[in-house]
Amino acid sequence: MSRARLGVLLSGRGSNFVAIADAASRGDLPAEVAVVISNQPGAAGLERARERGIPAVLLPHQGRKRAEHEAEVLAALRSHQVDWVCLAGYLRIVGPALVGAYPQRLLNIHPSLLPSFPGLDAQRQAFDHGVKVSGCTVHLVDAGLDTGPIVLQRAVDVADAGSAEEVAARILAVEHAAYVEALGRLLSEPWSLQGRRIRFD
Ligand code: GRF
Repeated sequence: MSRARLGVLLSGRGSNFVAIADAASRGDLPAEVAVVISNQPGAAGLERARERGIPAVLLPHQGRKRAEHEAEVLAALRSHQVDWVCLAGYLRIVGPALVGAYPQRLLNIHPSLLPSFPGLDAQRQAFDHGVKVSGCTVHLVDAGLDTGPIVLQRAVDVADAGSAEEVAARILAVEHAAYVEALGRLLSEPWSLQGRRIRFD
């Protein structure tokens, strides 16, 4: 099976990126990370990419129009021959140019059981709401905010969590394996989209 060339977009610490990159280099994913792109100069994920010998590109969004910035991101993905894009803590709304360039090849991980708590600070939203179960969702990205078809979800018990930070830590503990598993299935199994439902055959 040929190895997919992944582009990872991130804005922060990059632990999901590390999980994907390490799974790929162990041979647990039929993929390699071709490039990491961040919009944030201080993103620790950029340094973690460089440590692994993975090209790390900083494309700050400040002072750029949204469409201009997105065109730069797309050009960087193309120049690294990326065929799948993984959002991993990328704190920007992905616009139509990127979604259109990678139809059903653009993934995100969100720290809630969607469709509950889309958008920013999902773990705090869940804590403030008092939910007893939360989790993470890996989904294909469409034009909406955290609305794309769901690939995989993992639930965690947060009934006795004492803070939003604790909720976040419990969710993060299942995120890495969830992202790797979802990506692995999409890359290695036949699947189709029926309406909003992803079906693995
Ligand atoms: C994760 O909680 C992910 O679900 C959300 O942003 C966070 C990124 O964490 N989209 P990291 O940068 O991968 O460590």
